[in-house]
Amino acid sequence: MEKLGVSITGSGSAVPETSLDNHALTALVETSDEWITTRTGIRQRRISLPSDSVSSLAAAASRQAIASAGIQATDLDLILLATSTPDDLFGSACQVQAELGANKAVAFDLTAACSGFVFGLVTAAQYIRTGVYKNVLLIGADILSRWVDWQDRKTCVLFGDGAGAVVLQANESDRLLGFALKSDGTQNHHLNLGYAVSSQELLPGINVSQGTYQPITMNGKEVYRFAVQKVPEIIDKALFAANLTVEQIDWLLLHQANQRILDAVAERLNIPEHKVISNLANYGNTSAASIPLALDEAVRQGKIKPNDIIAASGFGAGLTWGAAIFQWGK
Ligand code: ACO
Repeated sequence: MEKLGVSITGSGSAVPETSLDNHALTALVETSDEWITTRTGIRQRRISLPSDSVSSLAAAASRQAIASAGIQATDLDLILLATSTPDDLFGSACQVQAELGANKAVAFDLTAACSGFVFGLVTAAQYIRTGVYKNVLLIGADILSRWVDWQDRKTCVLFGDGAGAVVLQANESDRLLGFALKSDGTQNHHLNLGYAVSSQELLPGINVSQGTYQPITMNGKEVYRFAVQKVPEIIDKALFAANLTVEQIDWLLLHQANQRILDAVAERLNIPEHKVISNLANYGNTSAASIPLALDEAVRQGKIKPNDIIAASGFGAGLTWGAAIFQWGK
């Protein structure tokens, strides 16, 4: 029988060694451990050194994912790197391919901010369902500390760096049970890492732009409102597509942005606290890395077991949001 189903067979993660707790941030901006903890649930985050790179974090997470799936890097057909902070604007997936020695794999980046992992999961699944590829490596990796304004207390306390990866494989039964994805560019201005154009005269009458990207700006209140409203809706949609009810979910795995968002979404969906995966206290918001990082930790802790049903949902800049319901393992 032709294998046109998708299964997620391995996971891995990697974070930089340097940790920055809330107390350390009080030396940079007017804030307190109490404010950050009660408003966000974050206690510390990992920060990359200048010698770290998105591709090296991504490769470290990938090696674990490949090993836990029981395959070799040379078995990979496709590498998708979900990131908003590539080491190279032309993309970093090919650097990861080289570091892994995955010489058969085609590799490219995918940008959908904090929704990148969920968008990548659905993208990877399409290649498998059409029978084109059998072994796909999906990575979510970001070094947002490069793009944080360390003088802006509204954003600098929120973010951290990291990488998570999964291997998707062709399988007889399809373990991606349902999904739903959404974008709304009319709300783009609420969360940006924008390119600031600066005009430079190349020749008389001909100007080119030679700007740079500017640090993250966010309207926290609007993004909070958006997340709490849209995430339960999109999970409901994905559950409908999967023909499942909310009671059948074993784990709620949300983008790790804010504990209050996790709590509010769980409450709206009537999902008990013990089913909610949360590790943001230790890592903050790691953007595209947050879902696979939390997934990998929960798998390694023995919380997530084979055949468990996971409802994952990412949301963020774009604005973008999405949910995927999948069953863990072969
Ligand atoms: N320390 C102390 N005080 C602070 C800090 C801080 N770090 N940051 C803000 N404040 C102050 C504000 O200035 C404000 O003071 P004021 O009332 O005197 O004006 C007060 O605290 C309240 O600020 P709010 O912004 O209203 O605080 P809120 O409770 O909304 O929490 C937060 C802010 C944590 C950012 C929240 O809105 C949030 O989590 N939003 C969602 C962010 C998110 O989910 N992003 C996900 C996508 S990320 C991506 O895609 C890259």
